[in-house]
Amino acid sequence: MTASRFDVPALLDQLTLEEKASLVSGSGFWWTRKIERLGIPSIMVSDGPHGLRKQERSTDHVGIGGSVPATCFPTASALASSWDRDLVRRVGVAIGGEARGQDLAVVLGPGINLKRSPLCGRNFEYLSEDPVVAGELGLAMVDGIQSQGVGTSLKHYAVNNQEHDRLRVSADVDERPLRELYLAGFERVVRDGRPWTVMCSYNRINGVYASQDPWLLTEVLRGEWGFDGVVVSDWGAVDDPTRALPAGLDLEMPSTGGASARRIAAAVQAGDLDEAALDTAIERLLRLLDRTLPGVESDDAYDADAHHALAREAAADCVVLLENDGLLPLLLHQGRIAVIGEFARTPRFQGAGSSKVNPTRVDDALTALRAGVADGVTVDFAPGFGVDDPSADTAALRAEAVATATGADVAIVFLGLPPSFESEGYDRDHLDLPPEQVAVLEAVAAATERVVVVLANGSVVAIEGWRHHAGALVEGWLGGQAGGSAIADVLLGAVNPSGRLAETVPLRIQDTPSYLSFPGEDRHVRYGEGLHIGYRHYDARDLPVSYPFGHGLSYTEFDYADLTVEVHDHPGGSAASAGWTGAPRLAVRATITNTGPVRGKEVVQLYVADHEAAVTRPVRELKGFAKVALEPGESATVSFTLTERDLSYWSTRTGGWVLEPGMFEVAVGASSRDLRLTAAVAITGAPIAYPLDRSSTLGEWLEHPVGHEILLDALRRSPGGDMTGLTQDPAQVRMLGSFPMTRLATMLGPAVDGDIVDELLARLDG
Ligand code: BGC
Repeated sequence: MTASRFDVPALLDQLTLEEKASLVSGSGFWWTRKIERLGIPSIMVSDGPHGLRKQERSTDHVGIGGSVPATCFPTASALASSWDRDLVRRVGVAIGGEARGQDLAVVLGPGINLKRSPLCGRNFEYLSEDPVVAGELGLAMVDGIQSQGVGTSLKHYAVNNQEHDRLRVSADVDERPLRELYLAGFERVVRDGRPWTVMCSYNRINGVYASQDPWLLTEVLRGEWGFDGVVVSDWGAVDDPTRALPAGLDLEMPSTGGASARRIAAAVQAGDLDEAALDTAIERLLRLLDRTLPGVESDDAYDADAHHALAREAAADCVVLLENDGLLPLLLHQGRIAVIGEFARTPRFQGAGSSKVNPTRVDDALTALRAGVADGVTVDFAPGFGVDDPSADTAALRAEAVATATGADVAIVFLGLPPSFESEGYDRDHLDLPPEQVAVLEAVAAATERVVVVLANGSVVAIEGWRHHAGALVEGWLGGQAGGSAIADVLLGAVNPSGRLAETVPLRIQDTPSYLSFPGEDRHVRYGEGLHIGYRHYDARDLPVSYPFGHGLSYTEFDYADLTVEVHDHPGGSAASAGWTGAPRLAVRATITNTGPVRGKEVVQLYVADHEAAVTRPVRELKGFAKVALEPGESATVSFTLTERDLSYWSTRTGGWVLEPGMFEVAVGASSRDLRLTAAVAITGAPIAYPLDRSSTLGEWLEHPVGHEILLDALRRSPGGDMTGLTQDPAQVRMLGSFPMTRLATMLGPAVDGDIVDELLARLDG
């Protein structure tokens, strides 16, 4: 622990109540408060997850006002498709470096909420439908940014999975999905990445505002996971500051013009709020100020070219080649390429709202293609459609596109979601592309056979209506300021695509897990699908999808061989350790070989299924992934270590993680539906003994390793004669098994009544 530059006890002594109360909310939009007379400085924070939005003049938190130029990297849904921790970390280092140069103390990101529905308007800012991908890549981003002496704000904690009514809605979610899905990524990043701040979300969780929830902000975040930073509110998330503070919120943002300070001071004076809660928040804020490395000279002259090059490399590695009948890469030496679609000329490279970056420059795919093709190739362009432009003459644009495509050797059609479709603040209400875009594709496909479709969208779109027109389909996401040149790199083969879907592409919106309960009504949204979001849902229901989670093609092929799984028995028995990184249980290895003609990168995915469980478990769950780069003919061994926690489920009965002995299946593969190698694994250990109580059923007593014997003994010696026969008749046990023991007397007479159950429980304890 480095020495603090603040004498905290002395400061707490010297600060007046009013000063203290003023410190726990912001000053303006982006600053914390300073107290000059005591040498407490203020610091500046800024969005956001894929590049900085430092606002010097007109300020707002929804992306309306301008900001200083910064490198715009691919947005989160793109970055996640890289499945590349090292790449995401390098992007984080670059963002952290730019932030330091701008004298920013904290970057307000990354956002790691799960994609419960593809309709969420902010999905472009989120990583995945899976908590392992979201947690691992969120961790890489936090690591990268914080390596530069700049803090992060892990957001939006928690269960913020829609924009509709986002400031009030209660996400009503059961304990298991909460723990196993919605909190799991946050837990991973908090435990291992130690973010300087966590941003609580706007919404309520099971009726309680995240900003005012002591369980969420204190018990779990600090108590269980060891968070030692500052909890900051999302901008305007605090409903009642006098309840937020004791719940564990340290900093309300932005400024409330002194209103919150007045309420807090009054509540302390009235004896309704313990001043200690205020002192604790200030202590944490002072620690945050300490962490901002005072006195380090900032250098705002970062290498913008190098950052742009990194943005291009990242965007190219995020591209997912969904389909390829051999059209790609385009290796033409002569001929004509028709480029159709406004997005080729005017790229859509980021989403709208608080994450909106003012890029240092923007590459478009049309220019990059023209620069990249061989000398004998011409590239013609037609916009095909207007983007968010009601005045566009769609018929004329379409006719021009057809004329341009006719006779071309290949047509590359750039389609995507218009900016107005995807934004912070509201959700989409369908998955479709604008019909005028699909009409252009159809017309172009009628004019020329060889059609490549390139997509620009922050979250998945429905493709079934038109995919048959595309010989190759390239998911380019919102690729950041260099997304255009990155697309050209992939199309022309300068980069071999290696992105994989971090979210399923469903056939249709009706198939999606939350279809019947998104976005809820009357201020509530019920997470009725429970554990089954994303691929967990499609696999459990055995539904066909357009493209499964983890899918993505390459210009080469990979072979999987030699799966080995070593099981480490753990003397601790069956109870899982509390930590994410508990005792290792499985060491998994597989050999991957590049069997194709060019260098490429494979994302090796590790899935686990628990075949013998007392509770519902998803068909399979991602538990690890690794990205390997291989030359043609080269092999590499990929290794994974799975901990107890990786195999465990959250038990609502014990309020903890449980590793249940039994048969598991470990599989490695190229997607959730392309498992190449599987192995059955026996996990040994004592069976789970859930505590018995007065409400425990006959069935639970019979399953309990010790209770079973005690019960049989009592039945054997029951006053009316040996009743153990009852437990030998499977039909009887099935019928009576769900009766709490205390109520069995109604069925069996006084052989088992409440008093006897108390005696049995006493024997169990003794
Ligand atoms: C967003 C946050 C953002 C904040 C500051 C809020 O509206 O939800 O993600 O960091 O504004 O711009």
